[in-house]
Amino acid sequence: MPPPLHHVVPMPANVSMQSTRWFTLPAEAQILVEPSTPQVVEVAEHLAAVLRPSTGYALPIAAPAAGVPRGSVRVRLDPSGPAAGGDEAYTLDITDTSVLLVARHPSGLFRGIQTLRQLFPASIEARTRERGPWRLRLARIEDAPRFAWRGAMLDVSRHFFDVDDVKRYIDLLAKYKLNVLHLHLSDDQGWRIEIASWPRLTEYGSTSSVNDERGGFYTQAQYREIVAYAASRYITIVPEIDMPGHTNAALASYPELNCDGVAPPLYTGIKVGFSTLCVDKEITYTFVDDVVRELAALTPGPWIHLGGDEVEKLTDEQYARFVERVQDIVAKHGKQMVGWEEITKARLAPTTLVQQWRGGGEKATAAAAAVAAEAVRQGTRLIMSPASRVYLDMKYDATTALGLNWAGFVEVRDAYDWDPVTLYPGIAERDVLGVEAPLWSETLVTIRDVEQMAFPRIAGVAEIGWSPAEWRRFDEFRQRLALHGPRWERLGVHYYRSPQVPWPREE
Ligand code: ACM
Repeated sequence: MPPPLHHVVPMPANVSMQSTRWFTLPAEAQILVEPSTPQVVEVAEHLAAVLRPSTGYALPIAAPAAGVPRGSVRVRLDPSGPAAGGDEAYTLDITDTSVLLVARHPSGLFRGIQTLRQLFPASIEARTRERGPWRLRLARIEDAPRFAWRGAMLDVSRHFFDVDDVKRYIDLLAKYKLNVLHLHLSDDQGWRIEIASWPRLTEYGSTSSVNDERGGFYTQAQYREIVAYAASRYITIVPEIDMPGHTNAALASYPELNCDGVAPPLYTGIKVGFSTLCVDKEITYTFVDDVVRELAALTPGPWIHLGGDEVEKLTDEQYARFVERVQDIVAKHGKQMVGWEEITKARLAPTTLVQQWRGGGEKATAAAAAVAAEAVRQGTRLIMSPASRVYLDMKYDATTALGLNWAGFVEVRDAYDWDPVTLYPGIAERDVLGVEAPLWSETLVTIRDVEQMAFPRIAGVAEIGWSPAEWRRFDEFRQRLALHGPRWERLGVHYYRSPQVPWPREE
């Protein structure tokens, strides 16, 4: 039986609860920070920003002192706090007189306030003043994630999403304790990140998009702003520059990157597999080195994703040689390489991560299993993104207006009802670093479109990444998930009202 927390997603690892007694947040409550370091205060500010508009309470942030009002919320960083479960572990104690959140690291405090906000009624999410009472059932929660990598990917190449769109997505991911946002920054249809040493990538290569509907790029200053915004929510940005395929925008910008020295036109269709960097020209590696160097300087996180998927124009030998050289370049700039599963054709370093993406359902599962097995044989760890389960651009069913269906339809149950370790044979828990839900944007033009495809499926993926496997059951999950509909409505999130979920009537 899962713990009796009827509305928290992802379900915490351990909960004991007193179902008959309640804590009530009083109007004079304070948020007490211990110690009042900038990081702890920042987490407290995030909590206050959720609670103040809907409660209408002042909720000042203060250091503990004599005469603190009863009913205060204490946010405490304690190096001797919960040790198991890493930096994101936290405990939350709700008693008659106070709420106490403890973690060893600020990221644990940040994850803990996501649980706390979900324990309040849905109206806590409103940005206007609502009626209380603001009650919590007495409980003790000891929580930590199952997997270290709980990701989402946003394709900003097929259509561009601006800084505010990405911040909005980051905020929504943070509510479900996701900790990685992988940005697919380049593809055939557009190059989206300023590279100072190769300026035509953005001057020219960023102007196109699918159907020429929405091009654009991030300046390095804007990109740093995204990285910092994510970091303040304990989310790591993983930049991807896809290569050697999916490179038409770069090839169109610089003729010298083409084997024949002729730049192709910009591309606005949705075919894949037709482009490749010229892997036998030395300038290609100068280009890759410059791009990786500039990207590494913008990237505080350990990972840089170099794509590697769907290359149809090279022999396996040419492809493997390219990937191995690129892997060395990434290491030279102090980062670890991530690549789509095709990179298992190359000799990989043990620090390289393989993102498994094909199959997951009936289709092509044997081939997908073989690739996952090869990654494990090479000693690399897996990020599990099987398309038939977690590609958020797949249509929910035949009636879905947006999205594609080459990996089948992916309803809420399909996205939830699988496990990253047992999906394929021969994979152990330690082989899997985590799970990630990609969202490709061929058919998505606005952040509203993105939300419609991500929600509710992404909440299920977040639970796969965070919660213990043994009591995950779709029939229980869908009841809990249903209670997030009213929250999303208050937050203005456009979500799909799946018939598999017993949504409450509109309030
Ligand atoms: C992919 O979907 N081409 C990684």
